[in-house]
Amino acid sequence: MRTPIIAGNWKMNKTIAEAHELVTAMQNDLAQIANRGVEIVLCPPFVSIPEVFSLLKGTPIRTGAQNLFWEPKGAFTGEVSGPMLHGLCDYVIVGHSERRQYFGETDEGVNRKIKAAFSQELFPIVCVGESLAQYEAGQTASFVGGQVRAAFQGLSDADARRTVVAYEPIWAIGTGRASSGPEANAVIGESIRGVLAGLYGKETADAIRVQYGGSVNPKNIAEFLEQPEIDGALVGGASLVASDFIAICRAAAIKT
Ligand code: 13P
Repeated sequence: MRTPIIAGNWKMNKTIAEAHELVTAMQNDLAQIANRGVEIVLCPPFVSIPEVFSLLKGTPIRTGAQNLFWEPKGAFTGEVSGPMLHGLCDYVIVGHSERRQYFGETDEGVNRKIKAAFSQELFPIVCVGESLAQYEAGQTASFVGGQVRAAFQGLSDADARRTVVAYEPIWAIGTGRASSGPEANAVIGESIRGVLAGLYGKETADAIRVQYGGSVNPKNIAEFLEQPEIDGALVGGASLVASDFIAICRAAAIKT
């Protein structure tokens, strides 16, 4: 039995004051839902993490970062490392398609970041997903499978089990064109859990949580959560609206 996990990826939105306001508006409801067995993670921009962390202290709601660099410190202007996030975050998103697309992140770099996260007791939420062109060319399975293989390269069985994978088809992100429950379920079953079973065996693959992401909203969340392979969601735009994010998390509580 995998614990459902809903994460809000705020992307580059909200000042510190706005972050304070959004968390304050959601935290009582989210805490109640988290106490019913749903893991809830808020991933604000770096500068708001200390504020969000202190607001959420003593609640069951978790904090996450949207990125980290693999080196612990040094001359890497503009980067933030695992040791800087240690203690402030439980999770860190790694390899989001926007980072791959706009900031040149590679499969190899994603793998290094996952290992850097584990060295600081941060759990990675690793994003994979195909472009529209790959989707239309029928390359989803091979592309996503390759991303999964590269991400997990050299990871121990124990670390693999603690990794969360987010399947986010790029064509569904911020477009209002979500995948369908059955379609996302099939990709996750074959190209994510299937590949993980090949690497680690079925028992380990069955322990790894996989989220769906891409235009998730309060109306379509149930369709994803009812799929056997889908353990939660990585939510972008709807995580910036308190009532929407609460409704999405509540839908996951019904699944438990
Ligand atoms: P949207 O929910 O805005 O489509 O974003 C999804 C996403 O990229 C979450 O990481």
